Amino acid sequence: MEKLVIRGGKKLEGTIPISGAKNAALPLMCTPLLTDEPVTLTNLPRLADISTLSDLLNHLGVTITIEGGKGGKIRGRSLTFSAGNIADTVAPYDMVRKMRASILVLGPLVARAGEAIVSLPGGCAIGNRPIDLHLKALEAIGAKIELENGYVRASAPEGLKGGTVRFPFVSVGATENILMAAALAKGTTIIENAAREPEIADLAKCLNAMGAKITGAGHETITVEGVEKLHGCTHDVIPDRVEAGSYAVAALMTRGNILLEGAKAEHMQAALDVLTEAGAIVSEEENGVRVKSNGHLGGFNIVTQPFPGFPTDMQAQFMALAAVSDGASVINEAIFENRYMHVPELSRLGADITVSGSSATVRGVDKLVGAPVMATDLRASMSLALAGLVAEGETHVNRLYHLDRGYERLEEKLRQVGADIERVPT
Ligand code: UD1
Repeated sequence: MEKLVIRGGKKLEGTIPISGAKNAALPLMCTPLLTDEPVTLTNLPRLADISTLSDLLNHLGVTITIEGGKGGKIRGRSLTFSAGNIADTVAPYDMVRKMRASILVLGPLVARAGEAIVSLPGGCAIGNRPIDLHLKALEAIGAKIELENGYVRASAPEGLKGGTVRFPFVSVGATENILMAAALAKGTTIIENAAREPEIADLAKCLNAMGAKITGAGHETITVEGVEKLHGCTHDVIPDRVEAGSYAVAALMTRGNILLEGAKAEHMQAALDVLTEAGAIVSEEENGVRVKSNGHLGGFNIVTQPFPGFPTDMQAQFMALAAVSDGASVINEAIFENRYMHVPELSRLGADITVSGSSATVRGVDKLVGAPVMATDLRASMSLALAGLVAEGETHVNRLYHLDRGYERLEEKLRQVGADIERVPT
């Protein structure tokens, strides 16, 4: 096991290259299940979640080859996925429990092979997180769904048939699953109240490059005209808006100045607006987004919402920012019901936070003081690292495997802009 040791107090200045987006890469990696031709994805991040899904895809019969040796440092790496044959339609518990996004193989598998048996997923412990919307959506396009012994069995031996899917509320994963499955269904599928996250538009772009007929991705209603066959393609993964947003917070908290190289402002506008309110000067440059401090840190209010609202995946990091901002900030977590597990750990560093139901009031303190803390989930871990960057003395962030699921070369990137941070064995 490893931990991060951070000695706080350094002003961060310089450039951080932003990796390919984990949450775009995971659904994209499931698209090769829809075709017998190879699909190449470029700008993939090197992350534990990518390896976990690669293992599952291997098990299903997908061969994965690394393109161009080790790949460039900044542009990430390229992998080619070939699913000439589907070797197995069962995604077993041992593989799926490590990562909730494994459920994304369900739609493509049933569309291509007529059957998929997938264990109910695990993943971050940030709430109940059912998969009912995924299942109802697949049912609406003709899949028969059965639940047995902790597994979901979806079958459509005669193929899927286009239909209308209206989500009662927005789900990113369910939108992605139905999008992939509907691409190979007979007839037209209409998806209403679809998620509008940039990762959805990226997935649709890749599917269209494979021969799918999808319009409206990135909007509330998506239309998918099913095709008989999809073919291979090469697709470049979009930059990680959550990684970029996390380093933007680091720039502001340390009263520094960081160029987020490759980041796209239109993917992270809600977060940039709050940063500006808190005291950042944000500018779009030719090769990324620059975030620098105006010298003052003020409080702010946040309600997490589906895109284009403020992302739940940035809530914990902004709470670390609020902990050292002047005045009181109010944060409302409206997507997940149990996403305040970082609160007791931030409090150990001296933060003043009161939680009442889904709302947290954060009163800014003059200083945080370093202490050993325990990461509980991916984004919570990042909030502890951010707090450590400004805390007096040493902060030790334990259970680093959470961070490794979603932040590529974290300590290297932070050191590059002046942080005093190292990874050591526990
Ligand atoms: C994705 C992201 C995750 C992010 C989340 C919300 C990936 C790999 N993960 O997760 O980082 O935090 O979007 O932006 O892209 N729900 C149901 N039934 C369902 C599906 C979801 O009740 O069948 C609920 C969830 O419990 C949650 C809400 O809907 O309260 C939104 O979840 P969803 O958008 O599906 O999140 P994920 O796709 O799992």
